[in-house]
Amino acid sequence: MKTNVPIVVLDFGSQYTQLIARKLRESGVYCEIVPFRESIEDIKARNPQGIILSGGPASVYAKDAYHPDSAIYDLGLPILGICYGMQLINQHFGGSVVPADHQEYGKAELSFESDHKIFKDTKCGQIVWMSHGDKVEKLAEGFEKIAFSENSPYAGVADEKRDIYAFQFHPEVYHSEEGTKLLKNFAKYICKCESTWNMGSFAKEKIEAIKAQVGNKKVLCGVSGGVDSSVVAALLNEAIGDNLVAVFVDNGLLRANEREQVEAMFKTKLKLDLITIDASEEFLTNLKGVTDPEKKRKIIGETFIKVFDKEAKKHAGIEFLAQGTLYTDVIESVSVKGPSKTIKSHHNVGGLPDWMTFELVEPLNEIFKDEVRRLGLELGLPKDMIARHPFPGPGLGIRIMGDVNGTDLEILRKADTIMLEELHATGYYVKTWQAFTVLLNVKSVGVMGDNRTYDNTACIRIVEATDGMTATFAHIPHTILENMSRRIINEVDGINRVVYDISSKPPATIEWE
Ligand code: XMP
Repeated sequence: MKTNVPIVVLDFGSQYTQLIARKLRESGVYCEIVPFRESIEDIKARNPQGIILSGGPASVYAKDAYHPDSAIYDLGLPILGICYGMQLINQHFGGSVVPADHQEYGKAELSFESDHKIFKDTKCGQIVWMSHGDKVEKLAEGFEKIAFSENSPYAGVADEKRDIYAFQFHPEVYHSEEGTKLLKNFAKYICKCESTWNMGSFAKEKIEAIKAQVGNKKVLCGVSGGVDSSVVAALLNEAIGDNLVAVFVDNGLLRANEREQVEAMFKTKLKLDLITIDASEEFLTNLKGVTDPEKKRKIIGETFIKVFDKEAKKHAGIEFLAQGTLYTDVIESVSVKGPSKTIKSHHNVGGLPDWMTFELVEPLNEIFKDEVRRLGLELGLPKDMIARHPFPGPGLGIRIMGDVNGTDLEILRKADTIMLEELHATGYYVKTWQAFTVLLNVKSVGVMGDNRTYDNTACIRIVEATDGMTATFAHIPHTILENMSRRIINEVDGINRVVYDISSKPPATIEWE
């Protein structure tokens, strides 16, 4: 356990908890997220200068509500409660919390009641993000109101004597326009933390952590050519050198020419030996006739492990499997520390079979994609590799609605190649987070020449995002979409209609399955 953790965040199960850590990292402040039931001894052992209580989906007055060890309030350390964290604090010190007449989700304007140091260099009237069904009714003794919004009379409260602060809103989410500054103000002016953390120190820590975890054993690292697994391979290369066995699996669900591109990239740019395994038949056989998205994901996840397992037997001493799992994959796949809901099983998390014997090495599982890209640059990875759009482990398997078969894969690959060619040619590839084509398996009537057609529909999905947790559809000029559509319909047999996906995440997700 690290013994100098400036800020400890107690996690009560909010989907946003990691964003608190991420915002603090942006300000150069290192922090660790620990489960809400962490013992007071373990919290103290980290020598924190401040504690943050996260949000959470429960109600503090519920019978099975989550409570921290109440000794945290006696440590004499500054505390910041966020949403559920605020309600916990208020309840603990004798105030009351009740269901709000109007649940409040979305943007609100924050007005200051006083000129408090936590608001330093931020403006009165700033937009903040509310997401709560309960509210503070009676404020605990010793606390005063420092900010309010139209629907939240206690949007911000403070007890200067005890050094305890609380917000009803979520400063950590993107939509709270000055949220990063508010968290930084708490860390800098209230907890007196210094800004010493950066990607360089993160890389060093992770390399040391890998050495400590792995010792002189070998690690099989599944790479896909994407940023995440390439960064993991680079970290492992630094940490364990020859004990890294990098494996690329052609699962038959790759984009056109993907395999050749990845092999060339590893050879020439990363100068790492790569073992390529062609397992396309195995994957496609296992997927035959399966239409349920979650089943597909589980099958793909399990087949990957079978392939890795078989390969590992060829090398003596492999006990570990390294993957480029990101925090986004973790939070949407499984309920990690709190009762957060499963959205979809990202293949490298929720899709792992019970019988797997590898121990996992996942150095990126607490950071976000854009942070991985910065880490990659820090490790000297080439810029074009860093700039690659994310590509999900289950590949085209989750971009063909329903049954996955060779014919549909070929159609999708052709359509997708055209879409990407147009995107690159117009400079929009680098301006967008992710772009891909989905085969909807919805047939419609068309007319080509004088003939009636009854063919499949391709959907183009292009999104903008910063971390993949939220996304908006990209406002691509119509002429570009028109070219993509015209070329796909003209050049790809089997498609007679192209649609553009104009949904954002939430409520949609980025991938269709
Ligand atoms: P969703 O569809 O959940 O996707 O909004 C968020 C981001 O994650 C990628 N994604 C995956 N990446 N394994 C991965 O490595 C997976 O199983 C997986 N599923 C989704 C997705 O492409 C998007 O960038």
